[in-house]
Amino acid sequence: MENKITDKEKAQIIINNILTRTSDRMFDPSKEVDPDDIQTILQAAMAAPTGVNRQPWQFVVVTNRDLLKQLAEALPYCRMANEAGAAIVVCGDKSRFLEGEDAELWVQDVSAASENILLAAHALGLGSVWTALYPHQDRITSVYGILQIPADFVPFNVIPIGYVKTAHTPIDKWNPAAITYRS
Ligand SMILES: Cc1cc2nc3c(=O)[nH]c(=O)nc-3n(C[C@H](O)[C@H](O)[C@H](O)COP(=O)(O)O)c2cc1C
Repeated sequence: MENKITDKEKAQIIINNILTRTSDRMFDPSKEVDPDDIQTILQAAMAAPTGVNRQPWQFVVVTNRDLLKQLAEALPYCRMANEAGAAIVVCGDKSRFLEGEDAELWVQDVSAASENILLAAHALGLGSVWTALYPHQDRITSVYGILQIPADFVPFNVIPIGYVKTAHTPIDKWNPAAITYRS
């Protein structure tokens, strides 16, 4: 018998992917991340919405073990990079920032791309976690030095990615008090 899934079931799978994503901080260092999966994750990142379609982003993919270790040692909240199979450093591309009042929109663009990275990784059975760089100047300076990032790019966050050692239950953040209706 043909096993067809309905549109409703498809939607539920996508929603479940969002609801079950967690920040993962314990990776199996013996497992590498497939380059095809990294490519899929980056496609998801670049599918994010972006103000005036400016796409003011750059992605630095780190798989070199020594560089992952250096990131883990330099960044206090990114220690798990040492065990991750890869890390994506999401950067803003200054040459593509908007002008005037819209100049800060790049932060929202790279944030949207970052969330897509987390969701795509989760859909592929990988764990990941957003670790903050921007706006902490000391962290940004460390990453410029370790990864030799051109001055035109602003390192925004580091997202270590890998196979998780033990999956954990998502935090339930559903909070009706955070919603106001105007019907
Ligand atoms: C802007 C931002 C900065 C974050 N910075 C860090 C960080 O530096 N290190 C870390 O381990 N997690 C970091 N996180 C992950 C949060 O701690 C996590 O999303 C939150 O505790 C909720 O858990 P959940 O993602 O599993 O739902 C960050 C998340 C965001 C959105």
